[in-house]
Amino acid sequence: YWHVDKVVDSLATYPQIEEAADFLRQDEVVAFPTETVYGLGGNALSNEAATKIFAAKGRPADNPLIVHIASKQQVADVAINISKTAEQLMEAFWPGPLTVILEKQPNRLSEVVTAGLETVAVRMPDHPVALAVIEKAGLPIAAPSANRSGKPSPTSAKHVQDDLDGIIAGIIDGGETGIGVESTVVDCTGDIPIILRPGGITKEEIEAVVGEAAIDAALKDAKQQPKSPGMKYKHYAPEAPVYLLEGSREWIQSHVSEQRQQGKKVGVLTTEENLSFYDADVILPCGSRQDLRTVAHSLYDVLRAFNETDVDIIYSETFPAAGVGLAIMNRLEKAAAHRWLYEK
Ligand code: TXA
Ligand code: MG
Repeated sequence: YWHVDKVVDSLATYPQIEEAADFLRQDEVVAFPTETVYGLGGNALSNEAATKIFAAKGRPADNPLIVHIASKQQVADVAINISKTAEQLMEAFWPGPLTVILEKQPNRLSEVVTAGLETVAVRMPDHPVALAVIEKAGLPIAAPSANRSGKPSPTSAKHVQDDLDGIIAGIIDGGETGIGVESTVVDCTGDIPIILRPGGITKEEIEAVVGEAAIDAALKDAKQQPKSPGMKYKHYAPEAPVYLLEGSREWIQSHVSEQRQQGKKVGVLTTEENLSFYDADVILPCGSRQDLRTVAHSLYDVLRAFNETDVDIIYSETFPAAGVGLAIMNRLEKAAAHRWLYEK
């Protein structure tokens, strides 16, 4: 468990970073902060390291990992036939919360990392600790979110420790992550970029650069088979069932009261605006509706916090599915396993 509390230019010479990079070169797995969530890193060229990542997370083997790099030039080490639109997106958003799906460089990456696909997911994170440790290791680093599979992604070193303590080589603690939801995954292998997972970079921002972007049909229709293997699994869920309630707060309160009359302990996921309105067993504020980025920042911490309580059921408010709201609603829908209630 290494602490890097001060972020400075000379981070690469920190003994903590050097030690973590040494572990990575020895095919051990190490958690580190990125600007989105904490990642569990391992050598992307090594089957042994990749297998350790899947084992630590309890992740299904058909769900490929994102390969993280420390400079734009490094993309040529892992991918080929990079399209004009991919170049434009990387230029506009790297380093940053954008992952591009490209044709993979043959015979280089671990087959375990790419789950046997001909494509690879690549991202250059915008976090000094992540960049320093990847650069120091001198390797492309495979890094899924550093949570046990199915749990909310970790936005602090404490979250990583809660899930993976004792089964990974170490954690670099760089404080809370900023964005709080994962990167946007964009398939750049076709003519029009397709958003496979909404995230920190919005559809609107992508369209401002490349003109047109599509959203994977499976994101709009739960019955379709998603192109991004990870999107088919239940994710991000607290232990108590989550319901998304679309309606007025008075109507939401009536549901809370009804459940409590039946002896249930009820949690409410709301925002600062409505915090003092509700009467429930546990009421957790998740940012402010004035700025949905604050909701994204706190979402996973709040979902995890419900697990520290004894609530039987969680009622969540909903958010407008535009801008970063698209990523927020995508994660909430998964946490709720698509359980919606609508006010008539
Ligand atoms: O913000 C992030 O992206 C974080 C931080 C740690 O960088 N990482 C992350 O990784 O969220 P992970 O493994 O939890 O999510 C990777 C997503 C999954 O939905 C996976 O199915 C998809 O990317 N993916 C990876 N390779 C792919 C490929 N070749 N084609 C389509 N989807 C792919
Ligand atoms: Mg994940």
